[in-house]
Amino acid sequence: ADAGLVDRFGRTATDLRVSLTDRCNLRCTYCMPAEGLPTLPRDAVMTRDEIVRLVGIATRDLGVRQVRFTGGEPLLRGDLVEIVRECAALPDRPELSLTTNAVGLDHRAQALRDAGLDRVNVSLDTLDPDTFATLARRPFLERTLAGLAAAAEVFDVVKVNAVLVHGVNADHAADLLTWCLERGFELRFIEQMPLDADHRWSRSGMVTAADVRALLAERFTLVPDDAPRDGAPAERFAVLARASDGRPSTTTSAATGRLGTVGIIASVTEPFCADCRRTRLTAEGAVRSCLFAHTETDLLGPLRAGASDAELADTWRAAMWGKAAGHGMSAPGFTQPDRTMSAIGG
Ligand code: GTP
Ligand code: 5AD
Ligand code: SF4
Repeated sequence: ADAGLVDRFGRTATDLRVSLTDRCNLRCTYCMPAEGLPTLPRDAVMTRDEIVRLVGIATRDLGVRQVRFTGGEPLLRGDLVEIVRECAALPDRPELSLTTNAVGLDHRAQALRDAGLDRVNVSLDTLDPDTFATLARRPFLERTLAGLAAAAEVFDVVKVNAVLVHGVNADHAADLLTWCLERGFELRFIEQMPLDADHRWSRSGMVTAADVRALLAERFTLVPDDAPRDGAPAERFAVLARASDGRPSTTTSAATGRLGTVGIIASVTEPFCADCRRTRLTAEGAVRSCLFAHTETDLLGPLRAGASDAELADTWRAAMWGKAAGHGMSAPGFTQPDRTMSAIGG
């Protein structure tokens, strides 16, 4: 059949992330400005039918195997359950996942599961209500925890995403890991990337993967997982309790006891762009070949003007062919994209 989404550097995108809305009910400091952002007019955002059509092209014609719904906050889409159901009914059904802040997920977890959602990743940076309100600028810790608990009841795999900020929640890292291990959640610590609205990000101010390893070493021993990473952003570690003599244990023996798994997503200090398998659709139906791309390729305009599936697939291929080698954050002249994380979808 036709070629998939290959680029000039020999990578093939098999993982699609679809932003369903630019709106969010939180205002996390590393993602959105306090006052929010102007929201897209309703008719600029893809409808359910348009989303399902483009996901169908991606899976049938372009070799996409995994689809993740993101936002903004995807739960703000009233038709999220229907979108999942229709994507799950596509031939060559992709794996379907959701990245969410979980506010309101308690009311919809079961319906999403029944509609065919395979797994969820929940963003949770701290277990302290005041710290949550400082970071997210909304006092919604309880609602997030209720959503996360509901997700844990219906989904086999629940991952938790945490962005650490020095002087705010970084010191809570080990507590958060303990809490997630007790519940069987795979926690991933994410290096903050320069995708904040306020352009406050700085390399020196960021909590790095090395910082995370040091913060966790006080209580745990991390043993790198040898399973192939397969293009995943997270480097995974088995988590072991520190030996009772206080020295870190270094082997996964039964005696030391494996407590679970933790991931570190080191996008900045240990980039994984050379193995990137991602393509993205913005809520406005444009292809973004990279989080840090400065150009986008509109599919929704042509779709609404009557383009065929084959034409849309060709446009998507051309957009991905132009994907950059990497985010280039360390290169001189790097500039942050105009869009914030909330408008790209993580
Ligand atoms: P899994 O399939 O569950 O591993 O999903 P994921 O980790 O790819 O998805 P998730 O939406 O949970 O993303 C977690 C974090 O990884 C995001 O918040 C980003 O910080 C980072 N991330 C996701 N995609 C990319 C990417 O394409 N490039 C970079 N540099 N970072 C990414
Ligand atoms: N850098 C890294 N991750 C970010 N996220 C939001 N903004 C940033 C950023 N600037 C994460 C959220 C969520 C996911 C969608 O993206 O914590 O887990
Ligand atoms: Fe892929 Fe761009 Fe993310 Fe690098 S920054 S992993 S190239 S999307």
